[in-house]
Amino acid sequence: MKTKVKIAAVAAVLLTVMFRLAMAEDAKKEEVKENKYLGDKQCIACHKDLDDSVKMWEASKHAKAYETLATDAAKKFSSDPQKDPACLQCHVTGFGKEGGFAVDLKDDKKETVAGVTCESCHGAGQKYLAIFAKAKAKKEAPDKKELAAAGLITPDEKKCLECHNEKSPTFDKEKPFKFDEMYKAIKHAVKAEAETK
Ligand code: HEC
Ligand code: HEC
Ligand code: HEC
Ligand code: HEC
Repeated sequence: MKTKVKIAAVAAVLLTVMFRLAMAEDAKKEEVKENKYLGDKQCIACHKDLDDSVKMWEASKHAKAYETLATDAAKKFSSDPQKDPACLQCHVTGFGKEGGFAVDLKDDKKETVAGVTCESCHGAGQKYLAIFAKAKAKKEAPDKKELAAAGLITPDEKKCLECHNEKSPTFDKEKPFKFDEMYKAIKHAVKAEAETK
């Protein structure tokens, strides 16, 4: 090999290594930033006396999404749906994430992340929970910007489409997801416009 070619080859290898290292560093940062899932117990304990979100959620199909995986209808698509990652990714909360659902969790923890719970839509609670606790203690409204910075999500159509899409084996392609209609069915804790203005 000529020297120039050799240098080029060595440079290419070095660049690849540096690129890989940079990617690994980014992935690590991502991990540290991610909030831990807490489960729905604390959300429910506080919100059941605050607004109708708990009542509405408990009556919704989201609350039963893990139980649905034990039905005969579910077994048409998988031999053991309650253990199948291909199903769990949309039917439980924080699947495979820190604090989220895992097949081998103890039952009392498992039931707080089974199904599509509050944190599935509003984001993992680790950081924003303390803001709510402080607001409640001081009887003040929590700061919306502070909440968003701590990971609280105000869900919109994009959030719904993470699960309501053609990867769901029961998704009806003839009936694309209509946000307004679907949101009406799960609406909760909505303050009347007149009251807030
Ligand atoms: C210590 C009590 C407490 C706990 C625990 C709690 N909240 Fe709240 N939450 C509040 C209070 C107080 C408010 C403000 C009053 C209101 O909007 O009803 C609020 C408001 C909210 C809002 C509306 C915020 C906004 O944009 O105005 C969301 C969404 C919410 N909570 C979700 C959750 C979720 C999800 C959990 C569980 C991870 C949770 N909360 C746990 C007390 C609590
Ligand atoms: C983490 C995944 C996930 C997200 C995010 C999600 N859903 Fe769902 N949704 C489901 C699953 C799973 C079911 C079916 C539950 C069952 O039948 O057991 C469902 C069912 C529903 C149903 C009942 C449908 C029916 O045929 O009766 C409505 C309404 C609904 N979702 C609305 C919404 C809206 C609106 C949003 C966004 C604000 C949303 N969903 C976000 C997973 C999700
Ligand atoms: C991409 C997200 C997603 C995945 C993956 C997923 N589901 Fe679902 N599942 C949903 C949603 C959303 C619904 C609500 C109806 C719809 O839009 O399909 C649902 C509804 C259901 C229903 C109730 C249907 C009805 O008519 O009431 C069953 C049963 C079901 N899923 C089983 C499964 C099984 C079994 C698997 C794994 C093989 C699975 N799902 C994987 C999102 C998902
Ligand atoms: C399927 C997704 C989904 C689930 C599950 C869910 N929410 Fe929500 N939530 C929403 C959406 C969408 C809104 C409306 C956001 C907006 O204001 O535009 C909302 C609004 C709220 C609000 C009012 C926000 C405001 O600005 O006044 C509160 C409080 C709240 N949710 C609490 C909860 C609690 C507590 C649970 C669990 C018991 C829960 N939510 C479960 C999607 C969800």
